[in-house]
Amino acid sequence: DDEADLQPRAPIVTIMGHVDHGKTSLLDYIRSATVAKGEAGGITQHIGAYDVMTKSDKRVTFLDTPGHEAFTAMRARGAKVTDIAIIVVAADDSVMPQTREAINHAQAAGVPIVIALNKIDKPGANPDKVREELSVMNILVEEWGGKYQSQEVSAKTGAGIDDLLEKVLLEAEILELKANPDRKAVGTVIEASLDKGRGYVTTILVQTGTMEVGDIVLAGPHFGRVKAMTDHRGKKMKKAGPATPVQVLGLTGAPQAGDKIQVMETEREARELATQRQQL
Ligand code: GTP
Ligand code: NA
Ligand code: MG
Repeated sequence: DDEADLQPRAPIVTIMGHVDHGKTSLLDYIRSATVAKGEAGGITQHIGAYDVMTKSDKRVTFLDTPGHEAFTAMRARGAKVTDIAIIVVAADDSVMPQTREAINHAQAAGVPIVIALNKIDKPGANPDKVREELSVMNILVEEWGGKYQSQEVSAKTGAGIDDLLEKVLLEAEILELKANPDRKAVGTVIEASLDKGRGYVTTILVQTGTMEVGDIVLAGPHFGRVKAMTDHRGKKMKKAGPATPVQVLGLTGAPQAGDKIQVMETEREARELATQRQQL
């Protein structure tokens, strides 16, 4: 893209950390939703993608990742498509194996890290202990003279969450994130499934360009015409611009999470490429 075609876009922020340290609860608070409560066994098993408006009227797209050790690949994927990582550490617990792993994924992807010291409402919370443990990993927080922004928060009471968001927005400003909305969309598949009533439902993150109903798309070995698009609240959308998560109906199969999705000129071209990929 020419520099002249680029326009400011919303940041994509991935929430990562050890199992049960409060990632989904934090995002629930930000979204005024209650996903965490509804999860069977309380364990997140997939990546969720949501865009929200902050109180300061900025749009932010969040990816929620699972903290269970089995889901390393999802965390790696989340780190790859993100601009900023929020690493959640429960202040009544410690830096744990998946905290370390999440930090490693973020560093490997070269994305800035903001630390959320969660569960600060709990009597046993000891955020200084966590700061100390992080410093041993070379994650030195600003209030201790380091470069990492951190914020004490409670996903239960909401304490500190506005400040956390402002810190994330500050990181985003430094990055000067831009994309060209006036081109054919390119994005990444977040997840895909077969729905009894609706057929294949593919959650994608549009990264550049604008996806529209009627577009011909190619995703991994599958293609199709976008029949309908909905946001994460189920609201119909006609268009989805850069940094927008959207559920797409109309693909002929379920691509894999992490596959690229792109809008093609013609159905013939999309079919040919999909067929070639199926034969690989
Ligand atoms: P996984 O996705 O399975 O890794 O877990 P998670 O990090 O998303 O944690 P989740 O939001 O499921 O929260 C785990 C438990 O901690 C739940 O029982 C929450 O109610 C609780 N919890 C989360 N944040 C807070 C908090 O700030 N304070 C208190 N007191 N409890 C919290
Ligand atoms: Na959990
Ligand atoms: Mg969760």
